[in-house]
Amino acid sequence: MAYQTVILGIESSCDDTSAAVIADGVKLSNITASQAVHEQYGGVVPELASRAHQKHILPVIDIALKDAGITLSDITAIGYTRGPGLMGSLLVGGSFANGLGLGLGIPLIEVNHMQAHVQAHFIQEKDATQEVPTFPFLCLTVSGGHTQILKVSSHDSFEVLGETQDDAAGEAFDKAAKLMGLPYPGGPHIDRLANEGNPSFDLPTSNMPGLTFSFSGLKTAFLYLIQDGLKENPNFIEDNKADLAASVQAAILKMLLAKLKRASKETGIKSIAIAGGVSANKGLRSALQETAQKFNWKLFIPSFEYCTDNAAMIGISAFYKYQSGDFTGEYIPPSARLKV
Ligand code: KG4
Ligand code: ZN
Repeated sequence: MAYQTVILGIESSCDDTSAAVIADGVKLSNITASQAVHEQYGGVVPELASRAHQKHILPVIDIALKDAGITLSDITAIGYTRGPGLMGSLLVGGSFANGLGLGLGIPLIEVNHMQAHVQAHFIQEKDATQEVPTFPFLCLTVSGGHTQILKVSSHDSFEVLGETQDDAAGEAFDKAAKLMGLPYPGGPHIDRLANEGNPSFDLPTSNMPGLTFSFSGLKTAFLYLIQDGLKENPNFIEDNKADLAASVQAAILKMLLAKLKRASKETGIKSIAIAGGVSANKGLRSALQETAQKFNWKLFIPSFEYCTDNAAMIGISAFYKYQSGDFTGEYIPPSARLKV
């Protein structure tokens, strides 16, 4: 085989079981099994998540290898998500990586899930060269569990400039959707509805000091808006679905953009990236494009495949760690609250 370094990436931090093959920085495959079982509960049930990971992990890895056209003996090292995430879920991917690594006699590389979301910007495709961010750049990482602005100075230097003091942006989307009776995860539903509506309801946007985010006030205000509306009209949600979604989305985006502009102004950095599940939001993507034009930013928006949880981002992170020798090669147990 012509490749020097072939990484098998394994991701299992929450409710997606994913495996990917990254060869010399190029994605050969990226396979994800999602878990529909949580929909009926309106959120991820940890015990069910780890059981589903156990069921999915072997077939997912098998397909990822076949898709990449490689066999187990071609793998140089295995990258796995060490954290942050749900402990039971992390244990499935981590233990599987450990067993496979021992069996094959190849090194293991632990990867931080949140750093991996950022590193997704460096994944190269087989048939086209992707433009990648130059260091240093700012990255707004917005997922179901995190909302942070990071200053990224190299593949292994991530500084948290600001983060949320309560809910994450994805959580704000999901909780608003739940109040509207939409299925979990609600972010994509709000996104779709917002596209058809107008932000005609007034919702508060917090003005936290510095680069700190807060979404809990918005959630409460949205709850009251819906409760008051239902008192007047039992069909309030149904009659105003699109406008409610557009209003809550506009408020979330306004807060995200305000802090990102501030971070760029304070640091003088105009190379800006976004990462994490919420970066799939169409409203956010177009608002960022407008802002980038206005402030002369160089903007990096991941393709949809790399916005939500995937193993290609774990593979590329492990690849850079392997290149710089920044790994122990041994299994390091999961850490549910691993910091950036
Ligand atoms: O990064 P991710 O897949 O998992 C975590 O690490 O949390 O992010 C999942 C989050 C969920 O809260 C989901 O509702 C949100 O990303 N999300 C979206 C969209 N797609 C996913 N939020 C808003 N608009 C979207 N299109
Ligand atoms: Zn994630």
